[in-house]
Amino acid sequence: MSVLAGGARQSCSRLIALNSIHQQYLAPIVVQCLPRIQQLLLDHRGKFRRKYLQVFGLGNKTYEHYNKVGIYVDKRLEELGANRLHKAGGRSCMHVEFDIEGSKMRYEAGDHLAMYPVNDRDLVERLGRLCNAELDTVFSLINTDTDSSKKHPFPCPTTYRTALTHYLEITALPRTHILKELAEYCGEEKDKEFLRFISSTAPDGKAKYQEWVQDSCRNIVHVLEDIPSCHPPIDHVCELLPRLQPRYYSISSSSKLHPTTVHVTAVLVKYETKTGRLNKGVATTFLAEKHPNDGEPAPRVPIFIRKSQFRLPPKPETPVIMVGPGTGLAPFRGFIQERDHCKQEGKEIGQTTLYFGCRKRSEDYIYEDELEDYSKRGIINLRVAFSRDQEKKVYVTHLLEQDSDLIWSVIGENKGHFYICGDAKNMATDVRNILLKVIRSKGGLSETEAQQYIKKMEAQKRYSADVWS
Ligand SMILES: Cc1cc2nc3c(=O)[nH]c(=O)nc-3n(C[C@H](O)[C@H](O)[C@H](O)COP(=O)(O)OP(=O)(O)OC[C@H]3O[C@@H](n4cnc5c(N)ncnc54)[C@H](O)[C@@H]3O)c2cc1C
Ligand SMILES: NC(=O)c1ccc[n+]([C@@H]2O[C@H](COP(=O)([O-])OP(=O)(O)OC[C@H]3O[C@@H](n4cnc5c(N)ncnc54)[C@H](OP(=O)(O)O)[C@@H]3O)[C@@H](O)[C@H]2O)c1
Repeated sequence: MSVLAGGARQSCSRLIALNSIHQQYLAPIVVQCLPRIQQLLLDHRGKFRRKYLQVFGLGNKTYEHYNKVGIYVDKRLEELGANRLHKAGGRSCMHVEFDIEGSKMRYEAGDHLAMYPVNDRDLVERLGRLCNAELDTVFSLINTDTDSSKKHPFPCPTTYRTALTHYLEITALPRTHILKELAEYCGEEKDKEFLRFISSTAPDGKAKYQEWVQDSCRNIVHVLEDIPSCHPPIDHVCELLPRLQPRYYSISSSSKLHPTTVHVTAVLVKYETKTGRLNKGVATTFLAEKHPNDGEPAPRVPIFIRKSQFRLPPKPETPVIMVGPGTGLAPFRGFIQERDHCKQEGKEIGQTTLYFGCRKRSEDYIYEDELEDYSKRGIINLRVAFSRDQEKKVYVTHLLEQDSDLIWSVIGENKGHFYICGDAKNMATDVRNILLKVIRSKGGLSETEAQQYIKKMEAQKRYSADVWS
């Protein structure tokens, strides 16, 4: 069993691991250790390190006292005042703080942090074995594309291990042109036929590609594992795979408050595929494994800041509406910190309305304490929707539909700003459509005029979206 808590540098800056084969021996040790655990979890003011406690219990339900100690420690820490990042089980959301002190990096709330991730070591090894490759061999890849300004697609010479670990996207689902090339390396004719078929443009070939690759989330390692007669040479695999891309995160802090740390809020990507495999997101898994430990140098991660247009209005008194369900809350945390900071400096701040939504209040209401505190102190007008806490779903969009007067007062009457962040697929479109409806009904405009109204807001930077899928 282990207890994770954090604050200073990453969500999980302290790891306390307690281990025992027999729970009856562990229990008295835990009772003895509780004051020490509590001490490790306290900050310099003697307060629990803000939020982010997570107790993980490992075990097997056939144990007589399955996870009893974990449950006990969890309960005791809660009684002592620690706050939980999540209730047990379910998805995991990370709050990570990057220390940029001494670097030349500068940021503003609304910017993005870009991170170069590193591929999973085990997956690299597996790919090497499937290609019968000696991973520490040094090689160079030369761009044959005459249009390319670069001689090599990535820094060369290098080893296959480095290329597969740092430069190539090995977990992306292979496109059909890759499968077509792989077909040439199949020892068995039926495997060759199969790969040619699913990479073809025939309708049933396309349908099979959709089912076998996309719906089953098979990356190149899974493809080679499931087609055992296919052994492509590693050079060709390195040539075929796309470059590993940096991952972007909406910065969830304000540099006014945190000039030397950049915060991000990221959901750990981890899911089971139809073939029974556990697929893990490259960047979020890499990040989740970086635990700072006392007495050891902090883990280092290659990052850069990407400037964005997603900005608070220049005047703090301008009213704003922010819609950010789930991780869409991230940039708004920075915005709110900034507005709070202005207020502390004695400036007048305009109405700041936040629409936040998550599945269950008790499970994924991220930054709950902070948001409730800002709301109590009158910094924000907080509107929350917990979609799965009742029979019928309630989304931020339902709240927006109820609040047409407030929306029109902000965007129509007071020239305020409107922001959306999070899911690009459905949420952002639904929110934009509601806004159109409000503009039409409250502003007495036609559909086309309402569209133009939003376009004008966009041009004036009064309507901004920071969305991804
Ligand atoms: C401008 C911008 C801002 C962003 N801000 C944030 C942010 O603040 N917080 C945040 O958490 N993310 C944010 N993202 C997303 C982030 O960049 C990464 O895409 C995300 O963290 C996943 O990266 P990864 O390397 O861990 O996963 P990858 O290895 O890239 O895998 C992700 C892919 O896995 C697949 N996938 C994921 N879940 C499932 C599933 N259940 N079933 C099947 N397939 C699945 C999807 O194809 C997905 O694209 C942002 C993206 C952009 C472009
Ligand atoms: N590329 C990636 O790997 C990656 C990583 C992280 C997030 N994302 C994307 O980012 C989005 C947000 O993810 P998240 O985990 O932060 O949030 P989330 O927990 O999936 O969603 C937040 C809340 O929004 C609700 N919701 C669903 N559809 C909505 C809609 N049309 N309008 C308003 N609210 C809606 C959800 O309700 P219900 O779930 O109960 O319907 C939930 O209560 C996801 O859609 C996901 O696709 C992608």
